[in-house]
Amino acid sequence: MKRRTFLNSTIFAGAFPLITPKQFFTNSLIKPTSKNKFPISICTWNFKEANEVAGKALEKGMDSLNAAILGAQVEEDNPANSTVGFGGAPDREGNVTLDACVMDHKKNCGAVLAVENVVHVASLARDVMEKTPHVILTGKGAESFARSLNYPSTVLLTKESKKAWEKWKKEAAYEPIINIENHDTIGILCIDKQGNLSGACSTSGLAYKMKGRIGDSPIIGAGLFIDNEVGGAVATGMGEEVVKTVGSFLIVELMRQGYTPQQACDEAIRRIVSKEEGIPNFQVAYIAIDKNGNVGSRSIHDGFSYMEYRDQKNINNLVNPY
Ligand code: GLY
Repeated sequence: MKRRTFLNSTIFAGAFPLITPKQFFTNSLIKPTSKNKFPISICTWNFKEANEVAGKALEKGMDSLNAAILGAQVEEDNPANSTVGFGGAPDREGNVTLDACVMDHKKNCGAVLAVENVVHVASLARDVMEKTPHVILTGKGAESFARSLNYPSTVLLTKESKKAWEKWKKEAAYEPIINIENHDTIGILCIDKQGNLSGACSTSGLAYKMKGRIGDSPIIGAGLFIDNEVGGAVATGMGEEVVKTVGSFLIVELMRQGYTPQQACDEAIRRIVSKEEGIPNFQVAYIAIDKNGNVGSRSIHDGFSYMEYRDQKNINNLVNPY
């Protein structure tokens, strides 16, 4: 929605004092649609197999939360992906620490931060959500919780990621490189046959980060946010910048106010870029979906794409930069 249109809507609402702001926004919610548009799965980057696994599971009737986690697991298991799960790049001291969160259609959420020796951290985030009275577990606590549920203990540093880290240590430059800046976080949003929306986000975070550093990915509202009445959004890229603008929550709230997913993603990127002088030298990208299955996406820089599974087709969409 253009600013002027939004202002007009607000003025319009003000002209009818019997409509409270809450009712106004409730009335403006995206109307539920017929169920045959679904399922849909979208995910960040060109994680074709991950999105296909989720999409096909949804086709078979899996619920959106389980499908999103199943999709994320494809990248968590992939040793060739140095930004998620097994084979993820370590921190500057050589420890691979993973972050993940999930959120379901009932506004339940769970997250794990800086977990070592566990591959399936999106699933562990769901276990935090479903099996504990808490929302977030970190570090050793999250790892002990995983052991209590019989998650296998896995050394996450592969031969290749160790070699890359050792090479990095020689110069120890801490300069993220756009798109291959170790930021290929998987964020996945699924709408199941019932029209319910859930999401998952999983990452090893910024390569060679300071020990203990956490980005946006496991922070509900920053890396991921779902509101089943409206839609969902997920982020990838420089987590610090996403956290500063609470990017995913911002996008969903803008959609609640009538922005399309595309307009909402544009505005979320604009908020980041507008506080910089010129186009910043880091990447942030968002994908979003509304309750009707409309999709939007925007990145700061070229090179970002997302997968979209719908009508049994799994398509990679290139995103125009800001
Ligand atoms: N977006 C992933 C991170 O910054 O850790």
